[in-house]
Amino acid sequence: MLVRELSVVESLFGLELELPALGKFWIQSTLRNDGVVLEAYLNGGSNPRLVGILALMLKRGATIEYVFVDEQFRGQGVGTQLVQAAASLAKEQEMPVIKARAIIQDPFGGIFSRLLEKVGFQAYDTASLLRFSDNPQTRQAWAEFMERRGSRICTKLQERGFRTVSCAEADAALMERFAREVETSFPAHLNPYQFLDSREHRVVRDFSFIALKGDEPAAYSLVTTVDDRTLTFQQLSASFKYQGSGAFLLPIVAFVEKALHSTHPYKLLSTMVYDRNRSMTSLLQGFLQPFAVNINTQYFYFLPLQEEARCACGACGETV
Ligand SMILES: CC(C)(COP(=O)(O)OP(=O)(O)OC[C@H]1O[C@@H](n2cnc3c(N)ncnc32)[C@H](O)[C@@H]1OP(=O)(O)O)[C@@H](O)C(=O)NCCC(=O)NCCS
Repeated sequence: MLVRELSVVESLFGLELELPALGKFWIQSTLRNDGVVLEAYLNGGSNPRLVGILALMLKRGATIEYVFVDEQFRGQGVGTQLVQAAASLAKEQEMPVIKARAIIQDPFGGIFSRLLEKVGFQAYDTASLLRFSDNPQTRQAWAEFMERRGSRICTKLQERGFRTVSCAEADAALMERFAREVETSFPAHLNPYQFLDSREHRVVRDFSFIALKGDEPAAYSLVTTVDDRTLTFQQLSASFKYQGSGAFLLPIVAFVEKALHSTHPYKLLSTMVYDRNRSMTSLLQGFLQPFAVNINTQYFYFLPLQEEARCACGACGETV
């Protein structure tokens, strides 16, 4: 088998592999962001056949974003060789570690995580992935929540001068103020401009909301889509000043009300909560969980590439 890099010119002519929408997204995104796409060919010499592909992002460290092997050729070591080739390439580029993710409950998630572990990757973090859909049960659960507590909290916040606008409705002056406040008044680990400035993660502006006290941003939610069918709730954040005020609920309520009571093409909503994020985890357990149609666990893996690499969690500072 031969593993080689896909050039941008070749990518313009389309791939011989039939990839799912997520695969196409990651291949395009990787190429646009100067990452590397590796292709695995059988019969490298005569009549080569493309049997697998891997997307390796090289911005902010090396991350395997996607691996796909033609169904006919699975279980023959193609995926393993692509992952090993990606690790060698990242090492050549003097990256300290290479990262990857696997969703254990996905049809191939367990296989992929075993593959990673066999190559030497170690898990360093986990997150819950929640999926919601618009069905009679979620509608009922939402109506009950609003009747029991939601409407009362929102009315109280409105009486105290809070309001909600979507990013589609916000004018330039408000977005300018939002940009300034995000830098100074909101927790730094979330950066909405990572999505607002990105061409791949299309921000769905009429489903992303800013809660304002007067004209001061107090909380926001950021929603994106990759395939125009699934909305991904990427970020929910309250400013330092309004943490504990309940203002975070306003963007959620505005979002759900719009999702349930307007005509739109979206079928599913997904969101991810890191298990180490205590405040979001308690929000999840106390509030979001009843609405979820399923909850999956995403494992974050890393493989040290240099003699002395720091743990990928970025928090403990340990060498591995
Ligand atoms: C996940 C995927 C990339 C693995 O590729 P692959 O070429 O089949 O993987 P490998 O042949 O290198 O196998 C890796 C390990 O998984 C095992 N494995 C592969 N397919 C398996 C299957 N259907 N059932 C059980 N184990 C399987 C292999 O036996 C091997 O373990 P072993 O060496 O101990 O025997 C491939 O299944 C795929 O393309 N899936 C769809 C896309 C996807 O979900 N990608 C992962 C997320 S990005």
